[in-house]
Amino acid sequence: MLTPLIKEILVSPADSRELAVRGWVKTKRELKNLVFIEINDGSVFSGIQCTFDRGAADVETLNRVSTGASVEIRGRLVPSPASGQAVEVAAENLRIIGEAPAESYPLQKKRHSLEFLREIAHLRPRTNTFSAVARVRNCLAFAIHRYFQEHGFVYVHTPIITASDAEGAGAMFQVTTLDLEALAKNGGNRETASGGSKAPGQNAAGPLIDYGKDFFGKRCCLTVSGQLEAETYATALSRVYTFGPTFRAENSNTARHLAEFWMVEPEIAFAELEDNMTLAEDFLKFILRTVLENNRADLDFFEAHIERGIIQTLEKVAGSRFIRMSYTEAMTELERAVTSGAVDFEFKPYWGCDLQSEHEKFITEKIAEGPVIVTDYPKEIKAFYMKMNDDGKTVRAMDVLVPRLGEIIGGSQREERLDKLESRMRELGMKTEDYSWYLDLRRYGSVPHTGFGLGFERLIQYITGMANIRDVIPYPRAAGQAEF
Ligand code: 4AD
Ligand code: MG
Repeated sequence: MLTPLIKEILVSPADSRELAVRGWVKTKRELKNLVFIEINDGSVFSGIQCTFDRGAADVETLNRVSTGASVEIRGRLVPSPASGQAVEVAAENLRIIGEAPAESYPLQKKRHSLEFLREIAHLRPRTNTFSAVARVRNCLAFAIHRYFQEHGFVYVHTPIITASDAEGAGAMFQVTTLDLEALAKNGGNRETASGGSKAPGQNAAGPLIDYGKDFFGKRCCLTVSGQLEAETYATALSRVYTFGPTFRAENSNTARHLAEFWMVEPEIAFAELEDNMTLAEDFLKFILRTVLENNRADLDFFEAHIERGIIQTLEKVAGSRFIRMSYTEAMTELERAVTSGAVDFEFKPYWGCDLQSEHEKFITEKIAEGPVIVTDYPKEIKAFYMKMNDDGKTVRAMDVLVPRLGEIIGGSQREERLDKLESRMRELGMKTEDYSWYLDLRRYGSVPHTGFGLGFERLIQYITGMANIRDVIPYPRAAGQAEF
């Protein structure tokens, strides 16, 4: 039998049953003859109070107990006279499993800054904040699978290592088994025509690196998105999704970018952009309802300590319709706001520019006061695979923007017309031969299809109110940061 979790014990009847609870000490308080030890095992936000009678207990052991120690407490489960808890343990026996010396244990009772906790990311799950984030993250991951499983989607595992750049943004991490130091010393690994020796860095025959000799026989990278491969399955299984890690070598040191993040990408066949928007909205609302139902204590903590009003916001969003507007409409609103003097942007908006985060903030917080789906962006600022509109200038893109964070979802209807897709790729200087498998989807049984990518960490930020994306993933990877 597994040790019962505090979460299970807290909902058991207070019938004086004998039990053992195991966890880590949160606090120890003394009052006259009583000693109260609150222990927590991370299964639920609150801990359980264990009350010792100083006269009856092993005083020496009680004195040695400090915050952070792991303990086993045996006793009986009784009704609690204290407010805020139905049951407590009338404790009889205490065993210290692992001490946490007060002079060196970094997590004493006082509140620590999130910056400090980032430096001890291996211990931060023991704090209220990070255990709550971990439980919410878990709930969201499960809710995502549940939503798709209940709606006929097949979970597809798309590759992590790939030779194609799905977004054409060029922010990829290279994967290689070539010995870079040796290559640098020997001036590459490409044979020269004469077969003669090469001086370092010198090679008249062209590029120094022959990727044909690399592990995969070609230049490979970590994926930035599973979309292209998901499309191959959607055009066979109709409704699919991937949910896995993705990697971007964006050197943007912001509170909403990671180099390694998780993305959820559904892809549906026989569907157009309107269906995609409806799916994204329904999916997000389901997730909000699920977390509101299942993780109330965690959300109460975020409400009290991280972002006031967050619960009401989530409840409101779960029950309201997302506003939809085209990029052109959004731009008109932004320009009007500038002209009227209502706002002064650092980056002046104009038709054709990418939406900056200050623009996204204005659209969601001032214009819509909630989530907004912006559609039909100029083709120049979007990826090659998006379906061209009849105007020849805009594509069937959709981004879901939310207050505080801006973009949490990016998606589109895909270009299913072979000639249009090929000509767009050529326009962008892409080699169509490299994507012949992708183009086959348009050659054989092509269908309108559409999908989106939700940044999982941005979703967690949105729901918890956590300001920095590095605090919603256990071990953040960002430029210059790969600790643990
Ligand atoms: O808008 P993006 O780049 O879209 C795609 O990758 C498409 N292939 C998705 C699709 O249509 N299947 O990324 C999707 C989402 C963004 O909206 C954002 O929430 C998140 O991924 N994202 C990041 N999250 C954290 N750190 C980063 N560096 C991110 N880049 C994108
Ligand atoms: Mg995007």
